[in-house]
Order: sequence, then C-alpha cells, then structure tokens
Amino acid sequence: MGKPHIVIMMDSQPQREVVKKILVPVNADFLELSDRKNCAAALGSYRPDLIIAKITAASPDKNNWCELIKPDSPLENLPVILMGHGEEAEDIARKTARGGVVYIDTGKAKDKLIQVVRDILEEPAPPKTGSLILVVDDSSSIRMLLKDELSGAGYRVLLAENGRQAIDILRNTQPDIILSDVYMPEMNGIELCRTLHGDPRYTGIPFVVMSTENDAENMKQMMQFGAAAFIIKPFNLEQLMMTLNKICSYEFLLLIKENERLEGEQKLLLAGITSLVRALEARDQYTRGHSERVSDILVKLVRHMGGSRFDVERARIAGQLHDIGKIGIRDDVLLKPGSLDKEEFNHIKQHPLIGSEIIQTIPSIADILPVVMFHHERVDGKGYPEGRSGSDIPVWARLTAVADTYDALTSDRPYRKGMAHEKAVDIIKEITGTQLCPESVDMFLEVAVKPDVATQGK
Ligand SMILES: [Fe+2]
Repeated sequence: MGKPHIVIMMDSQPQREVVKKILVPVNADFLELSDRKNCAAALGSYRPDLIIAKITAASPDKNNWCELIKPDSPLENLPVILMGHGEEAEDIARKTARGGVVYIDTGKAKDKLIQVVRDILEEPAPPKTGSLILVVDDSSSIRMLLKDELSGAGYRVLLAENGRQAIDILRNTQPDIILSDVYMPEMNGIELCRTLHGDPRYTGIPFVVMSTENDAENMKQMMQFGAAAFIIKPFNLEQLMMTLNKICSYEFLLLIKENERLEGEQKLLLAGITSLVRALEARDQYTRGHSERVSDILVKLVRHMGGSRFDVERARIAGQLHDIGKIGIRDDVLLKPGSLDKEEFNHIKQHPLIGSEIIQTIPSIADILPVVMFHHERVDGKGYPEGRSGSDIPVWARLTAVADTYDALTSDRPYRKGMAHEKAVDIIKEITGTQLCPESVDMFLEVAVKPDVATQGK
C-alpha cells in the first residue's frame, strides 16, 4: 500500500493548489476534480481514503460536490472534509452532515486542515470491503466462529487447520491478514510465522497471533519473526474486530513496511559485521576460526540448557561476535607473539567495550550485548571491564568465558602448541571458582566436550 489517496473536489485550480500546499507534510497522493463530469469513473479506480470538497452554493448549473457524498452515494462511507465560507456554506454542510463529515471554514484552513486530515487518516479504518483474512486454527469450532463473525463484519475469510495448510493456500492467494493460533498439529503457529518471515513474498502480510497469557516465550519469538499483533485468548470478538480494523489501517501497513525495511538493513549490517570478524581473524593466523569454534561450543551449551530455537540462534551470533571489538585493537598488540606489557594489556582490555559500542548500533541483536561486554569477567571479580563477580556476570557471558578459554588453550599460539584436550580440561578445572563459573564448567564438561570439539584448533 502506498500513500494515502486524497480527492480534492474544487472548481478553482488555485484553491486546489492551496490545499495541496497545506497538506505537503501528509505525503499524500492527490486526485483533483474540477467538475463533476466523469467523476464517478475517476473515483472508482482511485480508491480514495479521504475527500476534500468545496461547498458551492447549490445551483443546477454549478458543481454541487455535496451531491456526490450524500447518503446512498458510492462514496457514502468515506471520510469527507467540506470547505466553505459564510453562513450559506455552513448551512449546506449541516444539511449534508452524516458520520465522517467535517466542516472547515476556508478562512481557518491554514491552521486546521492539516490536523483534521491527520486525525482522519490516523483513525482505524473500517475494514475495507472484501479484505481477505486467512484464519489458521486447528479447532473447527473456533474456525467456524471466526468465519461467521468476520464475514458478518465485511471481511472475506479463508480457513486452514494448521501451518502446513496455510502455506498451501498462500501459494495461490495473498490474504490481507493472517490470524493464527499457536499450538497446532503438523505445523504450529511459531513455525508458520518463522517460515513466512523468511520469505519476501509474505513479509508484508500482517501476522496476528491468537495466544494465551502465559505464552511469553513464544510471543517473544514470534515478535522476532515479525508477528504484527497478539490477541490474548479468551478474547472477545469486539477486541478482535478492533485489532483487525487497526491493522487494516494505512498507518499500520506503513509501519510494517518500515519495519521490513529496517530489518533488511539490519541483516545487511549484521552480514557486514560478520565479514569484519572474518577479516579480523584473517589478520592473525593463530586466532583464525576461533569465533566460529567458540560459537559452536556456546550453541551446544545453550541447547543443553533447554534454550529455544531462537535462543540457540542468538547464541550462535553471540559466539561469532564476542570478540568483534578486537577490530579496534592495534596490530602490534593483537599480533604480538610474546606476552603483553601493562600498556598493551590495558589496550587489549578495551575490546569488550569497543565491541559493545559496535553491537549497540544494531537493535535487533542488542540481546547479545552481555556476551560481548562481559566475556572476560571472572567469577572472583578480577576480570574486566567492570570487575563483576559471580552471578552478576550474565549467564551467557560466563558460558562464553569457558568456551573461549578452552579454545584458547587447545589452539596453537606463536609461542606454544595447542594443548591436548585432557591438559586443557585439567587447567580449566584448576581455574574453576576463581576465573570460571563452576556451573558453567560442569555443563561444559558434560556436553560440550565431544571429539569434534576436542580436536579442533590443533
Ligand atoms: Fe575476548
């Protein structure tokens, strides 16, 4: 959907220009009508959102725009602003009055028109006749109830019993809204939402979830997958209609388009940053592949903790980007073969802060910030950058610290060969409780150390 469509019905071209000039900030598309000839044909294909008409003293040989908007005309349900001046005009406006008609004195147009137009365009529009809703629910009684109610309210309705059926329908049909249950056999609402979110053909269709109050985790995931709104069960039909009407409104669709654009930009940004990590690791042959390996271990740990599919994906990104801040570290420090002096060590200690600043520029991955910021904290409080201790260090950062340490020990360094798995585990055990978190180490020893992990980095 594009700009709002506004029809200006005025005989005088200069007056139409004045109106358009006042409404420049609304960024609308205008159809100008200077007389009533061919009006109906022009309006039919234009699908206006609002009409602005000049009141002309009724006389058979003059344009009487009010005739076009009176009850029973095809434009009856559209919002209308009537503009005129003087008692006669006000009188005509009063006679034309019906719901959705606003009268503005032309003398006050400069001050009032823009606000009135904004108010009208921002109001949730009634459902556009024929808006198509795809209802996805495994309960036949809910499907039937919604079909009856939505049809009664002027919507067209398609029904699917689960995500799989919905996808079959979407192959040939483009609905205006998808209204979906969460728990369904074959393909549930979360999977459906995720699948559609990844397909540019469907990202512009608002996805409304019918959920229950204690479904916060699913809701969070579905929001990440682009769900437009949630209706909490048991809902009343009035609430449902209000939500759907709001979603049908121009502003809402515009918002979805804007979100889509932003998300696309963020994906590009993320891809750019990931390439930067590759570039960073290419500077130093000894850390090549380090972020990828830390990421693999962190994924295993988060999965073991019962993390959702969404959490696991975030863990993957968090691991890959945990050292992104090293981009800001000088070569002579980052690539130094021997041990670092005090100044050099202070410089390298900046990388969690630098990384956090980079991550902050991408709101969609703001949740991985604790890993980037705190993966060098120690449970005894002697780490950096803040010297946090124990449970003040975010859980994923503690897990990352273990993965990071293991990979550093088992990878070759300019001044030593990578250690064998057993040796690395011995060292990890030694520093558990001072540097590393005991629970995180236990979990690491339980699940993350598999032959494929243990032999990497050699
Ligand atoms: Fe680091």
